[in-house]
Amino acid sequence: MSEPVEPAKRYLIRTFGCQMNEHDSERIAGLFEADGMVAATDVEDADVVVLNTCCIRENADNKLYGTLGHLKSVKDRRPGMELVVSGCLAQKDQDGIRERAPYVDLVFGTHNVHQATELLHRSRTEGPLTSILTETVAADHELFPSAMPAHREHGHTAWVTIQIGCDNSCAFCIVPAVRGAEISRPFDRLVHEVAELAGAGVTEVTLLGQNVNSYGRDLTLAARQAGDDVRVRPLFADLLREVGAVDGIRRVRYTSPHPKDLRPETIAAMAETPAVCEHLHLPVQSGSDRVLAAMHRGYTAERYLEKLAAARAEIADLAVTTDIIVGFPGETDDDFERTLELAAAAEYDSAYTFIYSPRTGTEAAEMVDQFVPADVIAERFERLKVVLERSALAKHRGRIGRVEEVVVEGLSRKDQALTTGRTRQNKLVHFASADPLRVGTFAEVEVTDAAPHFLRGRLVEVTAAPRHRTRIPVAAG
Ligand code: 5AD
Ligand code: SF4
Repeated sequence: MSEPVEPAKRYLIRTFGCQMNEHDSERIAGLFEADGMVAATDVEDADVVVLNTCCIRENADNKLYGTLGHLKSVKDRRPGMELVVSGCLAQKDQDGIRERAPYVDLVFGTHNVHQATELLHRSRTEGPLTSILTETVAADHELFPSAMPAHREHGHTAWVTIQIGCDNSCAFCIVPAVRGAEISRPFDRLVHEVAELAGAGVTEVTLLGQNVNSYGRDLTLAARQAGDDVRVRPLFADLLREVGAVDGIRRVRYTSPHPKDLRPETIAAMAETPAVCEHLHLPVQSGSDRVLAAMHRGYTAERYLEKLAAARAEIADLAVTTDIIVGFPGETDDDFERTLELAAAAEYDSAYTFIYSPRTGTEAAEMVDQFVPADVIAERFERLKVVLERSALAKHRGRIGRVEEVVVEGLSRKDQALTTGRTRQNKLVHFASADPLRVGTFAEVEVTDAAPHFLRGRLVEVTAAPRHRTRIPVAAG
């Protein structure tokens, strides 16, 4: 007779924040599954709940402690449930998390993702645990999220971390403090990983890094220091070309480039590599030279617009998106007018707008006497939204009548009678389909209508079936 088998533990991961975090969540899920766990669909049936936190903006703390408060009541009912907090906020607050929420079983930081299962096992035998590695060990490439075994099935898209950390020092940004200095993953490994993903049926990859245009700078410098006669050249452009040439990869995206480091070589690689999508996310943050200087961004509004014009001149039908912060300390009405002007001049397809949020440990958080009052920020925020939506709508209306390639993402969230696809320019298109289309299907859709945040269309034809197997969901926060 066989031994009774203990049922597999069920995990649920809630992700707060950026793509880097979502990617870390996928990797944690991969490690858990390699350890025999299975995905839960809900907190109520989860044995292990991971909150993968972000601390880039606003009330991440409130969000975390609010969610933890709710989970405490679940844990009171089911004391066996294990609670894990990971990510940026864990990296930043460290012991503070278990001081405020002593019922949390495990806290680990952004540099410990690769140890997720090991730490979970330790917390089971040793009791509640906080483990925060302070930095990534450059020589140990196994520490990179992407380099870890992910015994999971892939969807039609995958994120590939090409670089972690950031060597810049934008005055508002906590990332360099929580993610550390820039470290690039070796070129060949990345290309190999993308080839493996393509082999598993992935057709679209997004290359991730805080400042992708400086990808490889550390690698070339290290090679030079070791005495190699290497030419210092922009490796990112080469990477785009090589990844774009991988058999089976039909779409390559990347995020984010820093405007100061956006090189003509990158633009040329985008223009000349058919798989690289016609979409550039170029975070501007502000349109005022004074504010940009105070932020230490390293470019002026004029220089930014020049780079944008150069990119548009080279890459046909390029969609451009951005990030803008409203209410950076010391931002005057005049500074804000410059941001409105830049937003109008840049003719963005869409933009993420953020209200400035002081992050302890950053330079701008010290500029307390220059903080902009909340009501002033709120008003500016609304005015900016009007300008951005106007240009988004104009861009989208310009697409009416075109037939575009879309990749199916699933049923429309708002209207389950419609299917949603994503165009190469990263726009969502909702359209009707008589037959259900599997996620990852390629189709041609004629754009029939436009709104600021999406398009509507008519299915012309299905052009390719997906090649991947079913994806295991990771709940988003
Ligand atoms: N306050 C508001 N927005 C911020 N961002 C980063 N840090 C802050 C902050 N402290 C925004 C920037 C960045 C995006 C990822 O988040 O616009 O590009
Ligand atoms: Fe933060 Fe600036 Fe680095 Fe982006 S480039 S991660 S905004 S410090």
